[in-house]
Amino acid sequence: MSKLFTPSKIGTLELKNRFVCSATVECLVSEDNIITDKYLKVHNRLSKGGVGLIIPGNYFVSKSGVAVARNLVIDNDKVIDDLQKLTSIAHDNGSRIIAQLNHGGRQCSPEVIGQTPLSPSSVKDSLTGIRPIEIKTEEIKETIKSFAEAALRTKQAGFDGVQINAAHGYLINQFLSTRTNRRKDNWGGSLENRMRFLIAIYEGIRNKVGKTFPVLVKINAQDNIKKGVTLFESIALCKKLESIGIDAIEISGGIKETGFTTTKGDIPEDILLTNVNMLKRMLFKFIRGKLKKAAKFQEGYHLSCATAIKNSVSVPIILVGGIRRREMMEGILENGNADFVSMSRPFIRQPNLVNKLLEKPDSECIACVNCNRCTVEITVNNKPLRCYYIPQKKEVSK
Ligand SMILES: Cc1cc2nc3c(=O)[nH]c(=O)nc-3n(C[C@H](O)[C@H](O)[C@H](O)COP(=O)(O)O)c2cc1C
Repeated sequence: MSKLFTPSKIGTLELKNRFVCSATVECLVSEDNIITDKYLKVHNRLSKGGVGLIIPGNYFVSKSGVAVARNLVIDNDKVIDDLQKLTSIAHDNGSRIIAQLNHGGRQCSPEVIGQTPLSPSSVKDSLTGIRPIEIKTEEIKETIKSFAEAALRTKQAGFDGVQINAAHGYLINQFLSTRTNRRKDNWGGSLENRMRFLIAIYEGIRNKVGKTFPVLVKINAQDNIKKGVTLFESIALCKKLESIGIDAIEISGGIKETGFTTTKGDIPEDILLTNVNMLKRMLFKFIRGKLKKAAKFQEGYHLSCATAIKNSVSVPIILVGGIRRREMMEGILENGNADFVSMSRPFIRQPNLVNKLLEKPDSECIACVNCNRCTVEITVNNKPLRCYYIPQKKEVSK
């Protein structure tokens, strides 16, 4: 049997196969922070579809860290009961489920959070134009505490583990990068100092959830922007995280400032530029070529970085980013590039993807074409999770 369908472990957690549904925001939480029936239905379908591990869209540890509206803020115990319904659904259908925790930092919008976003330093995002406020030491400590308290809530709600989102240009990634972290205190400067925030979050979580509860992290192997996190730095970071007890590392990349670099593929200009003012349209025209180049899709676009990291640590490596063909999935496991294959957009279109791959061993099943309409409609326009692909006329008449 293909290695893809063999069981494996992350720390104490046993997983039935090597497929992970990477965190994907759903925008299915009500305005008063209650998860909707539709949210539960989405995860019911997904867990029935055979995926070993589900990581729902990120939960924000505080209101000041909400990067995408209509997603859960896990800053109070009232959410625990509803989350218990979610974890029971996943478990009843044979999947495991891990909660991702995040703080958006300067990638939050002032309109959503009702204040100027926080970041290690006041460095303007050249794409969004947002200039954040430098986070104070006291606020850093509060944020570390809110990650730890949120993690405890996920454990109480029956999750099988927790994943710290240190990727994609959000607050933790901002601390790691010399582009966004220009601090002169012991939270900035050397790599050791820039890692301090993530390490403190990890340790805060570990103290709350105990030694055996799986704690994972998602990182950018590299930011691909001037002064951003480099592969050399992320290898050092992974070694450090391994030495203090992290249970698995998911390898990703890209930050908002570089456009569609986390979800490479097409840039759906028609929906991206709806309701955008003249000035922003002009700015877009100016940087269009650069954005398109950076977003060019290449199968398994973090594979070489993941391999370099895998060769440097022993903890399980989860690889995400443009994994589409079965041959590539098999190769990743057989060649030891990573231990798990993780996908996001393919599961939006086909929640039953893993069962399909199992039932039809000789066929390619993935229908996702990386049009990124989901990326814009969900993460920018806050529409509910679904595939927004529009078939071309020729395809319709086939
Ligand atoms: C609609 C959408 C929402 C996403 N939400 C999250 C999220 O909440 N947390 C996260 O770490 N990544 C998020 N991502 C990134 C994915 O987890 C994944 O890293 C990326 O899409 C590349 O994988 P893929 O090529 O299989 O789609 C999101 C991606 C999409 C398309």
